Amino acid sequence: MDSLLIKGGVPLHGEVEISGAKNAVLPIMAATLLTAETCVIRRVPDLSDVKFMGQILTSLGAEVKFEGDTLTVRAAKIKPFGDYELIRKMRGSVCILGPLLSRLRKATVSLPGGCAIGARPIGLHLKGLKALGAKISIENGYVRTTTPKLAGAEIFLGGRLGPTVLGTANVMMAATLADGVTVIHSAACEPEVVDLANFLNAMGAKISGAGSPTITIIGVDQLHGAEHEVIPDRIEAATFVIAAAATNGEVTLRGARADHLLAVFDKLREAGVKVERNGTSLIARRSGRLKPVDVTTLPYPGFPTDVQAQLMALMILTPGTSIITERIFENRFMHVPELCRLGADIAIEGPSCIVKGGQPLSGAPMMASDLRASAALVIAGLAVKGTTQVSRIYHLDRGYEKLDEKLKKLGARVERVPET
Ligand code: EPU
Repeated sequence: MDSLLIKGGVPLHGEVEISGAKNAVLPIMAATLLTAETCVIRRVPDLSDVKFMGQILTSLGAEVKFEGDTLTVRAAKIKPFGDYELIRKMRGSVCILGPLLSRLRKATVSLPGGCAIGARPIGLHLKGLKALGAKISIENGYVRTTTPKLAGAEIFLGGRLGPTVLGTANVMMAATLADGVTVIHSAACEPEVVDLANFLNAMGAKISGAGSPTITIIGVDQLHGAEHEVIPDRIEAATFVIAAAATNGEVTLRGARADHLLAVFDKLREAGVKVERNGTSLIARRSGRLKPVDVTTLPYPGFPTDVQAQLMALMILTPGTSIITERIFENRFMHVPELCRLGADIAIEGPSCIVKGGQPLSGAPMMASDLRASAALVIAGLAVKGTTQVSRIYHLDRGYEKLDEKLKKLGARVERVPET
């Protein structure tokens, strides 16, 4: 297990290229199972989660080839059983269920467990698949689904905490090969769902309304191979913008999409962070003094839960009281006790954190607990004076492509060290 050694207090300066989006590419990789023909996916980020999904596709019988940032998948002959241990390790793997069921009429996939950020149930995924005609049972830790054929249906997919991103992806993929028309109500509107729908349409699916709460899918007999370029990672982009502001530097982002980041940029503007367009690039820096904010995470187009931890890292540097409320996951404050090791004053009150920013802070050893929490610890480490060691950075490698190398290019003093 590696850790990241950071000598903080150095403003980040320079340009960074934003990679393809992890949360777009994972369901897109699952979608390649819907056809026997070759699919070519470009702008694929080099991440451990992506390699892992590649192994899952291989274990199902697909031919998988990574060449630079291009991935080729040919799922000519596949089996409906996912390897228990492989699938259990990664939540995103649950989205192979819809494509397997749709193409093979049966699928057996291990139940994804909970994770550090909360229980992460899949009841809504199963509700949607049932509505399409799947028979579902849970046996020995596996979800077993079969169907003589899937038939289009009207499905309300909203849950207690709003729509589900991967649930929408799963049901949308299953419906592509169902008989008749499926309408998903209360669908997730995230750009990653739109990217998946665009890929499926390139494969011959008939999907409209993706990006809105109502998605209509007209079933087709079969899908064919397609080429697709993955959208840029909006969470990686937000992370670099916040890192630029936290270190009082100036970072130019190449290849990011501002239209996917409206809520983030709006809140950052309030916090005293400026993001300006320069041709196709975005330039991020402070606009003056940092200001405290009151923010609540919401489904897209609201402020994303995946940026909550990083914003908190900025707010511990910001004099005044900020309130950060998490409404998507019930346990996504694992970064709080770690940030407190730096001297931050953060109180957890139910779903909210009260951050009294501007306390004297200094580097300290911290432990990463999940992907976005790790990013927050790195941002804080970059901003505060002294040496910070963030251990267990395999979490970062799951979702940030070459983060340490990108930070070094921006002038950060970071070193990846093997943990003793
Ligand atoms: N939920 C249910 N029932 C379900 C499914 C979800 O109650 O059947 C609840 C969840 O417990 C949660 C809420 O609905 O409270 C939203 O969860 P969602 O299903 O939308 O999350 P997900 O699809 O499993 C994806 C991303 C997450 C991101 C969330 C929310 C991938 C691989 N993961 O998860 O990304 O936080 O959407 O935007 O796409 C990350 O990248 O660090 C990450 C955790």
